[in-house]
Amino acid sequence: MEPVKQDAEHKATILLVDDESINLSIFGQLLTPYYQVLVATNGQRALQLVCLTPKPDLILLDVMMPGMDGYEVIAHLKANPVSRDIPVIFVTALNSDLEEERGLVLGAVDYIYKPCHLSILLARIQTQLELKSARDRLKDQNTFLETEVERRDKDNRAVHAQLLQSEKLAAIGQLAAGIAHEINNPIGFVSSNLNTLSCYLTDLFCVVDAYESTLSDTEISKEALQKLQELKKQKQLDYLRSDISELIAESREGLLRVRDIVQDLKNFAHSDANSWELADLHKGLDSTLNIIANELKYHCAVHKRYGDIPQIYCLSSQLNQVFMNLLVNAGQAIETQGEITIGTGCTDQEVWVEISDTGKGIAPENLSHLFEPFFTTKPVGKGTGLGLSISQNIVGKHGGRIEVTSNLGHGSQFRVWLPIHPTQS
Ligand SMILES: Nc1ncnc2c1ncn2[C@@H]1O[C@H](COP(=O)(O)OP(=O)(O)OP(=O)(O)O)[C@@H](O)[C@H]1O
Ligand SMILES: [Mg+2]
Repeated sequence: MEPVKQDAEHKATILLVDDESINLSIFGQLLTPYYQVLVATNGQRALQLVCLTPKPDLILLDVMMPGMDGYEVIAHLKANPVSRDIPVIFVTALNSDLEEERGLVLGAVDYIYKPCHLSILLARIQTQLELKSARDRLKDQNTFLETEVERRDKDNRAVHAQLLQSEKLAAIGQLAAGIAHEINNPIGFVSSNLNTLSCYLTDLFCVVDAYESTLSDTEISKEALQKLQELKKQKQLDYLRSDISELIAESREGLLRVRDIVQDLKNFAHSDANSWELADLHKGLDSTLNIIANELKYHCAVHKRYGDIPQIYCLSSQLNQVFMNLLVNAGQAIETQGEITIGTGCTDQEVWVEISDTGKGIAPENLSHLFEPFFTTKPVGKGTGLGLSISQNIVGKHGGRIEVTSNLGHGSQFRVWLPIHPTQS
């Protein structure tokens, strides 16, 4: 396997290390037609040369040298990242299995005895060079693949973050629309009540004015009194009296509803999403329910079966997000009319919150995919498939779990188990 003669630019570089210049000269002459040859007459010089360009592709290293012997040189070469991968072939006059073994253990790729036949020497050098170039190619490919995997990973993370962000925005948009509706309703009737009240006041003042002008007469005629009676009747003063108090009570009630919604919103997101605190889950459930009332009220009857549960240490606004996802899912599973039941309870160590619905249920083959990000059976634009995956993440952070049971065509139950005293990571 004689190597092909190449022009200097494409020749592999071989470093000869030998303290005897006669050896360097013989090997040098043999190899020069095929390789670019560097020479070093001692170990120190060899270690310097491997750090320069062109870096040798292979080293032929004498074992017996004064000062630093071949074994010490190879130990240094292997310890230095710059030279670690350069294959080293020991060339020695020492014909001993033990020495050969020592050389190989230290990292040499081959062991050649002097004197040796040129064609054998060339073949063994060529084999090692080919192996090295295959290793180099593999290394390059690995580096390329690693950067590619890293780049794709980064891209994926960016896309995921972007999707999460748009999911969040969509959810906030939906929520905002629901809340706007909830607030608009009372504001609508309060402002219509104010209009009516203003008409009533005009009528009232009209009657008051008539009374005043009658009273300013020195003598009140029977006729004038009759006119006043008629005006009172015409303006339906008795009806005004009762309707005004009703309108005021209704308006007050409407404003209280607006105040409650604002309070619920504050409760829903009152704390920093990342702050752990002792919280009452029932309060969180109630606020969440009020916030999504608009989504549920037309087709779902909601029943609360709250048990006696302790406050738990948790990220309460994140748990509210879980309850919201489960309640919205339950509402969306109910196609015409149905019921949602929210139950709570506890054991010694854990509390549970169960949201069950009488909706369409989950096909058995889908059960194992529910918590996968982007798994959705909803039409485009309706669901992104992130609700449960986000919820599981949040519950996982608490050291809890979500259990699901479902009966296709009849409904589903999602039970969230949370430790009362979570061990925070
Ligand atoms: N209560 C439920 N009843 C029936 N199917 C459900 C219920 N909850 C979840 N699923 C199923 O699990 C899927 C995944 O739910 P998930 O909340 O993760 O996403 P989504 O509701 O589709 O979309 P998103 O919550 O992102 O708007 C849903 O598409 C639905 O098929
Ligand atoms: Mg959902």
